[in-house]
Amino acid sequence: MKKILALVFMSFLFISCGGAPKLTFMVGGAPNEVEYWKKVIAQFKEKTGIEVTLLEQASKTEQRLQSIQVALRGAQPDPDVMLLDVGWIGQIASAGWLEPLGEYGIDPSPFYGGIISLADTVDGKFIALPVYVDGGLLYYRSDLLTKYGYKKPPATWQELVDIATKVQAGERASGNSNFVGFLWQGDKYEGLICNALEYFVSAGGNFLDPQGKPIVNSVSNVKALQLMADLIHKYKVSPESVYTEMNEEGVREYFQAGNAMFERNWPYAWGKHSADDSPVKGKVGIAPLPGFVAGKGASTLGGWHIAVSKYSDMKKEAAQFVQFVTSFEVQKNLAMELGWNPGRVDVYKDADVIAKNPNLPILREVFINAVPRPSLPYYTIISDILQAEINEAISGKKDTKAALDAAQEKIIKVIEEYGAK
Ligand code: GLC
Repeated sequence: MKKILALVFMSFLFISCGGAPKLTFMVGGAPNEVEYWKKVIAQFKEKTGIEVTLLEQASKTEQRLQSIQVALRGAQPDPDVMLLDVGWIGQIASAGWLEPLGEYGIDPSPFYGGIISLADTVDGKFIALPVYVDGGLLYYRSDLLTKYGYKKPPATWQELVDIATKVQAGERASGNSNFVGFLWQGDKYEGLICNALEYFVSAGGNFLDPQGKPIVNSVSNVKALQLMADLIHKYKVSPESVYTEMNEEGVREYFQAGNAMFERNWPYAWGKHSADDSPVKGKVGIAPLPGFVAGKGASTLGGWHIAVSKYSDMKKEAAQFVQFVTSFEVQKNLAMELGWNPGRVDVYKDADVIAKNPNLPILREVFINAVPRPSLPYYTIISDILQAEINEAISGKKDTKAALDAAQEKIIKVIEEYGAK
């Protein structure tokens, strides 16, 4: 009897605490993205009966990493599922915090194979799937390009500087004193690293060589960083706010208000620029980023991948959610509604998706050739060093060579301490 009473009491407790345990999904991003995730969760519930609680994060990648690390370091059962930036997925995976997905019957073959092997495979097992793939792009005002007599977007950085200088002067002279030539992400955060890698690689450099040895202060990298600083201080086509505050959304809003000729951003900006309430709707084009030599531009590989925590207490349901989010249907909706570039190859052939985003074929080329950031268990330490030195150089406070020498020296020490890959 006592036992029965205890059982009744326990089930009462269970019901009064809100019924069956809920799956938890940790995700952040721009406000409209978080809102869209709520719809995905509702569709999942309709289909499977499984309830999901959204654990909302900030939009900056560093803050998102921190909240995930806090939960995983503490071996917490929540979140069960989370989105991970491709930039730090290796760091999370190498701590052994992710559940291999193959064991739940999930098939990685519909996804970009190169990305799966580069970012999602650890010790031969795949531990995440790309929900969307990012690559740095050049957005330009197609109406202004024509107005100032240009036929094509710039293929080299020099052409970009020339066009930006002319259009900036012209638009300011016609009354828009806020108008700037070129906006990019230069604040001291991960976005700056993504931008810097694009200049470095387009000059023939990189952060590490293929063996993992730091080559930060190479001649090519110094030339690239000098150009980044010159855009602000010598050519004056990029405003000082680039190094004090510009992140993805800051850049996107400024350009969208009609106040810039060029913008470096990720593909999501396309959806926002072409929305009905956008002042630049129908006046924007997309091109690959320029190079020091035409055709030799580079784009950093970005994007967000879905994974299940090793400490989840609902792994089976979590895997079902991963399967749902990465299904053709949901990937298509994310591409249509948010302008995201799917991790699945088959969605790129869908007629509705192509009609909504005619740039998709260009974008596909950009992603396939995109350059990854180093995948290291201590990547964020390296990134922090580079962020500080590069930001100081583009602010004009430190000579470009001195900044890269300092970064090289510090990174050598970190690698000595933690060991190469
Ligand atoms: C985007 C990219 C991500 C990158 C971040 C930097 O979210 O998808 O990979 O780290 O921007 O701000």
